[in-house]
Amino acid sequence: MTARLIDGKALAEQVRAGVAERVTRLRAASRQPALAVILVGADPASQVYVRNKIAACEKAGIRSLHETFGADLREAELLARIHALNHDDTVHGILVQLPLPAHIDAQRVIEAISPRKDVDGFHVASAGALMVGQPGFRPCTPLGCVRMLEHIGMGDLRGKHAVVVGRSNIVGKPMAMMLLGMNATVTIAHSGTPDLAETCRRADVLVAAVGRPRMIGADMIKPGAVVIDVGINRLADGSLCGDVDFAAARERAGWITPVPGGVGPMTIAMLLSNTVQACEQA
Ligand code: GUN
Repeated sequence: MTARLIDGKALAEQVRAGVAERVTRLRAASRQPALAVILVGADPASQVYVRNKIAACEKAGIRSLHETFGADLREAELLARIHALNHDDTVHGILVQLPLPAHIDAQRVIEAISPRKDVDGFHVASAGALMVGQPGFRPCTPLGCVRMLEHIGMGDLRGKHAVVVGRSNIVGKPMAMMLLGMNATVTIAHSGTPDLAETCRRADVLVAAVGRPRMIGADMIKPGAVVIDVGINRLADGSLCGDVDFAAARERAGWITPVPGGVGPMTIAMLLSNTVQACEQA
């Protein structure tokens, strides 16, 4: 079997077109969604992500404020800046690019963002709302994965087993909660899970979010499974690859997301969607 591709790039274009329409409606009412993107330090990968987010905002008609600070920025200064943005009615979303330098407490910074502007969905209030099934901003990467599953007709996972490999607060844990909300039976595994291959082989839906190049081999995939690859790893030769051994997995899975062109574009589209939602709710 050769898996069908879930084209994140094309689906993200559709989402972005819907976002652009909502922006047009808001602007007709003299309201323009705005996103503040804060980058601390000069991590090259973060610089690329931030640049892509800002370009996507501009394309969708969302105003962006790009604020860059040196790696020696004091935590108190960052908190003060967030406080000011919380009280700025012309700003609807606030995103602090992670990781932050080690001397800054990232969780304290996230908690400083008003939950009404937490378009990343990382605030404890957002995480709690997801846990108990209440409205709130959902983290963009797992939300993009959900949209992809819905797109291929897997919006209801009753009777299916989903396995998430990875336990980060920004992908693995919220992803597992969202899959539970879709009625799946969910296992959260990680690189230290005993018999990881066997656990993965039980998955009708396998989400890989570990950050290790090609660690999910074809032998870890149930024939016909849906494989969602969240990993974006840069290899020594400069090329990108996912957490899944794509070429081999493609011969076993039923559906698979490519890297690049899979989850990545969906993450940005969901950020735009959350930002417009924040403006609509303001
Ligand atoms: N770093 C890696 N992924 C993300 C993300 O989705 N949001 C933020 N703010 N930082 C990140």
